[in-house]
Amino acid sequence: MLKILVTGGLGFIGSHTVVELQQAGFDVVIIDNCSNASEAVLDGIVAITGIRPEFVRMDLRDKAGVADFFSQHPDLGGVIHFAASKAVGESVEKPLLYYENNITTLVYLLAQLTALPKAHFIFSSSCTVYGQADEMPITEDAPVKPAESPYGNTKQIGEEIIRDACHVHPALQAISLRYFNPIGAHPSAKIGELPLGVPQNLVPFITQTAAGIRKELSVFGDDYPTPDGTCIRDYIHVVDLARAHVVALQRLLEGKNPGNYEVFNVGTGTGSSVLEAIQSFERVSGTPLNYKITGRRAGDITTAYADTTRANTVLGWKAQSSLDDAMRTAWAWEQQIRGL
Ligand code: WQD
Repeated sequence: MLKILVTGGLGFIGSHTVVELQQAGFDVVIIDNCSNASEAVLDGIVAITGIRPEFVRMDLRDKAGVADFFSQHPDLGGVIHFAASKAVGESVEKPLLYYENNITTLVYLLAQLTALPKAHFIFSSSCTVYGQADEMPITEDAPVKPAESPYGNTKQIGEEIIRDACHVHPALQAISLRYFNPIGAHPSAKIGELPLGVPQNLVPFITQTAAGIRKELSVFGDDYPTPDGTCIRDYIHVVDLARAHVVALQRLLEGKNPGNYEVFNVGTGTGSSVLEAIQSFERVSGTPLNYKITGRRAGDITTAYADTTRANTVLGWKAQSSLDDAMRTAWAWEQQIRGL
């Protein structure tokens, strides 16, 4: 079986991608520094697939460690790179931490990959590179705007680094996947989102409020120029997102990519407002949610949802789950981890 390195493979999207890779017949090795995820996630993966991935606890800022890893794993069929810091607010407070962790580690990985006779690389990027796009739905050709946060800037810079490396190393075959808003959990409720501390993102805050862990959800503003006044996002089920990584990797392995660097939006193509997300939760859970409208959150954009034409027709991937499907799994996961 082809061995695939998944960095950040204990994380929310990473762990779901490990499951899909294993179920697609790949052998997986995970590198994770456990700064934002627990090694116990491995038990969840095993509970689903019956296969325990090789796990290396390491910080990718350890340049020598990264080099040692690659010398010990000369047979890697590909790398899917999730490991990064991803809290927008924290990145504003600690920019140097974000540039060191998100950029340096990418350079160290690429330095190893470009020394190989052939390398296949999938990069975890984000719709945040578009900022507030001028037109909806957002295509991959929409202009990349000045980043709203150091986190978003690390994704923009990361894409440029990969593009420049691919330009001089034709043996490096890479795809950047620009995620929209990943939500939900594996239908088995064995893995899911485990935000540390107070959730920054909407859906885990919704489920923790319903579980009684949070008193009430604050809806950050209902005075936006949208039908119901709340912000619109493209909420994509994390399993759909995970499967997009397997499809992208297979595209590279099968040499279906005409050029050696491509970018794809990964979303559902449907926008949903915050109030619609709340209504979805209430519908699937049968639980009224305690929320209040408060002021806007700094840095929030009004609307973002994907044009998925290129992902659907070129990559050959399409999201299968609806907002309700995703919300249902998010709630089942929250109930499972809280013993509700
Ligand atoms: C969604 C909507 C909030 C919390 C961020 C990153 C993005 C990606 C996904 C990593 C917004 C509203 C939220 C709350 C609320 N992360 N909201 N009350 O900001 O679209 O995207 O996470 O890649 O890069 O920017 O996601 O879930 O934080 O917010 O009203 O308690 O929910 O204002 O409109 P966001 P989010």
